[in-house]
Amino acid sequence: MNTSKSESLFQRSKKVSPGGVHSPVRGFRGVGGTPVFIESANGVRMKDADGNEYIDFCMSWGPLLFGHQDPEVGEAVKSALTRGWSYGAAERYSLEFAEDLIKAIPIIDQVRFVSSGTEAVMSAIRVARGYTKRDLVLKFDGCYHGHVDSLLVRAGSGLAEMASPDSAGISTKTASETIVCALDDDVQLEQIFNTHGSQIAVAIIEPLPANNGLLLQRTEFLKKLETLCKKHGSVLIFDEVISGFRVGLGGMAEITGIRPDLVTYGKIIGGGFPVGAYGGRKELMEMVAPVGPVYQAGTLSANPVAMSAGHAMLKKIIRENPYPTLAKTGEWFTGELQKLANQYLPYPTLFQKFGSISWMVLGTDQPVRRIEQIPAEQKARYAEIFHSFLDHGVYFAPSGYEVGFLSTAHTKQDLEQVIEIAKKVFQGAKQK
Ligand SMILES: Cc1ncc(COP(=O)(O)O)c(C=O)c1O
Repeated sequence: MNTSKSESLFQRSKKVSPGGVHSPVRGFRGVGGTPVFIESANGVRMKDADGNEYIDFCMSWGPLLFGHQDPEVGEAVKSALTRGWSYGAAERYSLEFAEDLIKAIPIIDQVRFVSSGTEAVMSAIRVARGYTKRDLVLKFDGCYHGHVDSLLVRAGSGLAEMASPDSAGISTKTASETIVCALDDDVQLEQIFNTHGSQIAVAIIEPLPANNGLLLQRTEFLKKLETLCKKHGSVLIFDEVISGFRVGLGGMAEITGIRPDLVTYGKIIGGGFPVGAYGGRKELMEMVAPVGPVYQAGTLSANPVAMSAGHAMLKKIIRENPYPTLAKTGEWFTGELQKLANQYLPYPTLFQKFGSISWMVLGTDQPVRRIEQIPAEQKARYAEIFHSFLDHGVYFAPSGYEVGFLSTAHTKQDLEQVIEIAKKVFQGAKQK
């Protein structure tokens, strides 16, 4: 495969931007080699600068539930563009979108649109702190919530569950206001609430953790978290930036029957445009400016073009209910890949999946629910498999800790083609 144009674009890019990219994983550091530079995409196929074509399973990291260039989203965007693309004033695009969203998701009384998942999470945390007048944040090891200072932390090695910064530039004081609990650990969770419950403003969790592989949680664990939050007066946030509109219209809240106080969204809610949102109980949402004392604002918030894209996406989701078909396709596709992996890969493998999300665990056939259960060889093994797929024209996320996404645009024929390729890829894999 010729990738000389991508290579030369990458050299140029590295001179003008850190690592040549604008979000770290795109730089291929997790798998080595040169990132391919994508020039266009339609349906499930992406084309790079050298003219190579790939069947895409990254789907822009999840937003493209209906594939690239979904015509309904495209038409909505084009139509919005003819009326201007930013007003910075009250408008009806976000009103109509919010009305439909609230009608579709009963646990949301009010919603505020922002421009990214990170912003949604950051704002929701502020609301929770403003509401409870407490400082401590509880998060779970292995969950990612965007690059919010207080959440870019990991379990500290000192004081049992107190956090330490997971990035340079985050003060130890900020990190010290976050407590980190292991996923799937009911005992630790209870201990944390017993010790700190009266100071915990908010507990935030990805109810379907999908940023360190796919760490499927037991519903009982999530329910325990809900119960403890209620008992101690802490706000519960479900971060559904990935799972929202991906696993079902009402996300994991609907699937588990849990009612979080606040929910954060990103990705699918913008149909591939920069939109985030947070919403929930009226009492909490009325803490937000201009009604309440919690400040949050945005020059491009509820941008009419992005609102039109997201709203078109929501209308199509409601009309088509793509989830049963996506889940069935996901079950069949990962089932076929699992059979081939069992037959050809020289190490145990497990496809962990939930609906249209899946993740290849390379080194165990036992369910993985916590980050420390991820096999040590995951990164090296994934790098080999990733590159082999890429050379055959299949684009998975360039990191062994990221999940794959199916869209409704993936046809049986596309997937059969990938299954054929998978056979060759797995046959060629080395013991690492
Ligand atoms: C669960 C979760 N929360 C928050 C974010 C941050 O969203 P964004 O990248 O739009 O800022 C992400 C991004 O991957 C995410 O997966």
